[in-house]
Amino acid sequence: MMTTLTTFFARALGRCTDHACHTLLLVALACGLIAGCIGRPHDWPAAKGGKAMHRSDVTPLRQASAGTHRRIGTAVRSGHLTDPRLRSLVATHFDSLTAENEMKWGNTERQPGSFSLGAGDQLVAFAAENGMRMRGHTLVWHLQLANWVKDLSGDALREAMKRHIRTLVGHWRGQIAQWDVVNEALADGSDGKLRDSPFLKLGEGYLDEAFRTAHEADPEALLFYNDYGIEAGEGDAKSDGALRLCTRLKKAGVPIHGIGMQMHVDPRHWPTPEEIQRNVERFAALGLFVEFTEMDVPVGRIRGTLDEKLQSQRTITHDIVAACFRVEKCTGITLWGISDANSWLNDPHWGSLRGRGPHYPLAFDEVLEPKPMLFGILDAFAGR
Ligand code: XIL
Repeated sequence: MMTTLTTFFARALGRCTDHACHTLLLVALACGLIAGCIGRPHDWPAAKGGKAMHRSDVTPLRQASAGTHRRIGTAVRSGHLTDPRLRSLVATHFDSLTAENEMKWGNTERQPGSFSLGAGDQLVAFAAENGMRMRGHTLVWHLQLANWVKDLSGDALREAMKRHIRTLVGHWRGQIAQWDVVNEALADGSDGKLRDSPFLKLGEGYLDEAFRTAHEADPEALLFYNDYGIEAGEGDAKSDGALRLCTRLKKAGVPIHGIGMQMHVDPRHWPTPEEIQRNVERFAALGLFVEFTEMDVPVGRIRGTLDEKLQSQRTITHDIVAACFRVEKCTGITLWGISDANSWLNDPHWGSLRGRGPHYPLAFDEVLEPKPMLFGILDAFAGR
């Protein structure tokens, strides 16, 4: 592409007869070259883990976690299961699996009462074959929701929500250990209140009803409230809002067993490991399990060379994982994707929320080799 561009301009220059024409073409060539070098992710250098790191030399994450009571997970799309290299990497390193998109309402009940659970079934089967715990994600969420639900209100909405929950949780009863029952119900900003979700038409009690319905459908499954931006702890409106919400649900006798902190790290502003730990302790004190359910650490806005960025990513990851491990009830960490090639942050829409990329946010690089981040997690498992 770059060669074609240069050849085109060389020919055009040859045909120019005056000075103004030359200047114009040279400016156009410079702009073309700059545009060609910026904003094209496939031209960015791959984030290699370094010469010494080959996947065969590395202790599998799940082996490192085996002696602890913690799980190490990843989010998988059913399409990944057709790639033998990804299947092998996932089965080797992870002992927990989350469906990245396959169990969301927009993919499971696109039309009222008509359910498509086949893609989810594939993930559940893969997890079972490989001795992995399955996390169900997610039942009640304002995004990736079927459009028809947004037009409902009152009893019709309540019944649709309950039928959806009963069908999915019932279908995978006994096979899904943890469900993210409600996702991202809290608003961003300074009041820590519930966001204006289509489900809020039922009042705040929609959360209570969602958890109760899920519990009836599978009394053994652990039920989680899951959200982002609730990691910081006391004084942070959304973290405090999440704590108030969980406290209210517990007091009302609602069957909620855990809080999922997504942990989509933004290195430009992120709580310290100590703050995160104190926050985890507050939720644990309510009797809840805590899991970091969607962790990734984008490096685009971290300063330095690529090597320096990857070392900082290792440190940040290590310190956050270690903060979880210092609290007994913090029982798992899930990375949101398998490798840098599979991250949702490669989508410019989502990636730009973390500033300019490339973000290389996960523990394996684009050719599935281990990165320093992986060693950060291994160190945390080893108590180093
Ligand atoms: C993301 C998926 O990774 C993408 O593939 C999809 O396009 C959008 O959703 N919080 C969540 C996840 O709870 O479900 C989101 O997953 C990431 C943010």
